[in-house]
Amino acid sequence: MNSILRLCVAATVALILLPGMAPAKAQNPPRPPTAAGVVPDPTASSTGTADEPAHTGIDAPAQAPSVIATPPPAPAPRKPTYNSINTTEPVVALTFDDGPHPKLTPRLLDMLKERGAKATFYVIGQNVAQYPEIVQRMVAEGHEIANHTYTHPSLPKIGHARVGEEISKTNEVIEQVVGVRPTTMRPPYGAINPAITKRLNEEFDLPVILWSVDPQDWKIRKASHVSNHILQNARPGAILLAHDIHPSTIDAMPAVLDGLAAKGYRFATVSELIALDGKAQPPGAAPQTPSPSVPAYPTPAENGGGTAPAAPAPTL
Ligand code: NI
Repeated sequence: MNSILRLCVAATVALILLPGMAPAKAQNPPRPPTAAGVVPDPTASSTGTADEPAHTGIDAPAQAPSVIATPPPAPAPRKPTYNSINTTEPVVALTFDDGPHPKLTPRLLDMLKERGAKATFYVIGQNVAQYPEIVQRMVAEGHEIANHTYTHPSLPKIGHARVGEEISKTNEVIEQVVGVRPTTMRPPYGAINPAITKRLNEEFDLPVILWSVDPQDWKIRKASHVSNHILQNARPGAILLAHDIHPSTIDAMPAVLDGLAAKGYRFATVSELIALDGKAQPPGAAPQTPSPSVPAYPTPAENGGGTAPAAPAPTL
């Protein structure tokens, strides 16, 4: 009697369990039920794929609102050369060439720090070797260090090997001193040609950064001229050229920084500015046309490829 009862119990248990005991399924834990108590269908796309875990639905609303996410605007592909960038945002990049200078650059850094403004320094490699602590301070205070060659030659006037040396040696000394490799370069005197631009971009991964506002501070050593010129010509996306080796340029900076801030401008580094190129541009918006100043020497964009400048060189 006992054995018949046991047989009956075993048969009943088997009948109940067998349909759910296929070996493949037995190895996988059952999927958790959704909030509504429904086991999700593993083949349904809404529950995810092998790479995308199925949504348990525990915290999800019963019916998720169908929101179509708008992808963020992709940044424009990097260009080989920049004079300015295309943006509607009131942002400019303040750039200082030819330093660091042992006395003037620290004064400038104080002014920038006081105002929380960031700048980009196109340093000369041999000056970095001479005043490494100033370059370290620049980086510590959030500024960008970029390549302005080692000895400030006019690149189209020197040979292929020497161009390579000027760029590499400067990258190396900057990396040695601050542990950061420059990501942009500016040719001395703005002197460049298409072959050198191509090489800088392809071999050194360095876009060429020129400018859209030039107060000619190396020539006109008057602070009010420098500040007025910059304030009158700055536009969204502008790259402002200055040299932190002239006292008059440093004297002009409080008026430049405060005047631009009063107009609503913020100061980005060149790399930050490039990252904004073409972003936040409403569809169909006309490209920004900054009104460039008349440079002391033609920039490559203006002289069709550019060779050495006709005008006397800025200092150094
Ligand atoms: Ni220079």
